[in-house]
Amino acid sequence: MKRLLTIVGARPQFIKAAAISHVISEKYAEQISEDILHTGQHYDDTMSGRFFTELDIPLPKYNLGVGSGTHGTQTAEMLKGIENIILSNHYDGVLVYGDTNSTLAGALAASKLHLPVYHVEAGLRSFNRNMPEEINRILTDHVSSLLFAPTQTAVQNLRDEGFTEDRIIFSGDVMLDNVLHYSSLSTFHSPLHSFILATIHRDFNTDHPERLKNILSALNTIADKYDTKILFPIHPRTKKQLQNFNLQFSIHNFQFTEPLSYLDTLGALQQATMVFTDSGGLQKEAYFCGKPCVILRPETEWVEIVDDGAALLADADPDRILEAAKKLWNTGPSLPTAFGDGHAAEKIIKKIITY
Ligand code: UD1
Repeated sequence: MKRLLTIVGARPQFIKAAAISHVISEKYAEQISEDILHTGQHYDDTMSGRFFTELDIPLPKYNLGVGSGTHGTQTAEMLKGIENIILSNHYDGVLVYGDTNSTLAGALAASKLHLPVYHVEAGLRSFNRNMPEEINRILTDHVSSLLFAPTQTAVQNLRDEGFTEDRIIFSGDVMLDNVLHYSSLSTFHSPLHSFILATIHRDFNTDHPERLKNILSALNTIADKYDTKILFPIHPRTKKQLQNFNLQFSIHNFQFTEPLSYLDTLGALQQATMVFTDSGGLQKEAYFCGKPCVILRPETEWVEIVDDGAALLADADPDRILEAAKKLWNTGPSLPTAFGDGHAAEKIIKKIITY
């Protein structure tokens, strides 16, 4: 029996972990056991606790309660806590997801203690080192033993950085597994008749009043022009900054809500006309649910969606946002082919068991 330590900390990681935990408990419980360590990076119930209940993920065995802080402080606290737990237990490997500070701390602590690190969502690159996530991804990949790449672009990025073939596994994307599994389970009822779904949480958008203002006013114009409303689940960071910058918006077009649960997000996606976001995960979920997406960033790691014509990059530029909305407004769904076959989690677990 292999003992796996799974490290999570931020909202998208709880969602990704659900896919893997389910496969373990349903099919491989004899071969592998999993303990979950929550760093505490996200701590509000709407950003953390409720995902464990809703997605039926085993409760974390450990919670470091690290909370918010500067990148250095937050990562250092996690590193210390994770190292302690690894030293006082016997694990055969550590599983980390994506590109957050929790990912980096887990990978770094484990690799220094000579434990194999398994990285789910490896090989993603924006080629923009101003993003904290880009630094986290690069460093995590380089200390990982097995790199589970969700797309062929990710595989190629790893080859270009000199990784050998024995470390690279094209697994497909566990987020596609999840969308296929959970889509029909949503009971979300939108408060709005016709709406676009919008989210913003990246520091380069929330921490610059001009960018934040430009995005929100472009969305407002779109709502007027297309006679629709904007459903805007609001991330705690964005909420704080809207207050700090005293940004007022034409409230009649915006329906601000607390962050949505995972099932509600899938329900909202199914009912929305279109999506505007700077989130990587939501870009993909929009695509998997057949909804066009305007990406509020200068670049994306998920280039396949743009290549397929289902999303457009618009950054925080109002003209580009309006132009992208116009181009995509009547785009029909396309069939995602680049993200695997919906069985990524099983491929990953099988590989870890035999590693
Ligand atoms: C983190 C990840 C990002 C991921 C996102 C998903 C890093 C560097 N970034 O960004 O890649 O897309 O999670 O949401 O790891 N806050 C609360 N309550 C919470 C969580 C956050 O109030 O439960 C507030 C705090 O003021 C905090 C701010 O949000 O300072 C930012 O949180 P943090 O975890 O540092 O980064 P995210 O922006 O959530």
